[in-house]
Amino acid sequence: MPKKVLGLLGSPRLQGNTADLLDTVLEGARLAGAEVERLDLAKMSIDPCVECRKCDADATCAVKTDDMHQIYARIRQVDAIVLASPIFFMSVSSQTKAMIDRCQCYWVERFVMQKRAYEGRTRPKGLFVACAGSPRPIVFDPARHVVRAFFAAIDYEYAGEVLLGFTDDPEISPRKVEAIEGARLAGKVLVG
Ligand SMILES: Cc1cc2nc3c(=O)[nH]c(=O)nc-3n(C[C@H](O)[C@H](O)[C@H](O)COP(=O)(O)O)c2cc1C
Repeated sequence: MPKKVLGLLGSPRLQGNTADLLDTVLEGARLAGAEVERLDLAKMSIDPCVECRKCDADATCAVKTDDMHQIYARIRQVDAIVLASPIFFMSVSSQTKAMIDRCQCYWVERFVMQKRAYEGRTRPKGLFVACAGSPRPIVFDPARHVVRAFFAAIDYEYAGEVLLGFTDDPEISPRKVEAIEGARLAGKVLVG
């Protein structure tokens, strides 16, 4: 059975730098034999968590009226998720954060009910892809914490990062070429 890799694009620019890196990771995974799929969060209707606390009782989300069900359906099916977001105000984009907050039901399952989703089976992997305008490496730190918490909640192993900083640089080209190469390799390693 080919491995399944889900790419979640959190950038509102569907063909920007973050999308380019995500597509390249997915292409690397596809060439390594995986089935890949990209979902664009900006095109989906994903309501913010309303903290109704209903998931405290049964670890499922009570909100059934938006597109989040498409992501819930895939989280326990795929072998890896590549979460790709631009850095907005030092964190992930709001499209990405809304999706993450709606995974509170998995946090309840993992850390309140203490259930391990993948006992005895291969634990899926989570890769973080991000782009930032600033050249400062620390610009990724807050988002890294958010994304690590997301992958821990859904009980995925944090498998690393593909980062491209200083996208504001008019001379970005050679660094982007390098980042694209890193992205292709990361996709291959993810399924390897
Ligand atoms: C609303 C907004 C907030 C941003 N905040 C930051 C920031 O805090 N730090 C930073 O380095 N870049 C910031 N940027 C720049 C983006 O991270 C950068 O342009 C990135 O490459 C966008 O990714 P994209 O190519 O997928 O659109 C911000 C951009 C926008 C539109």
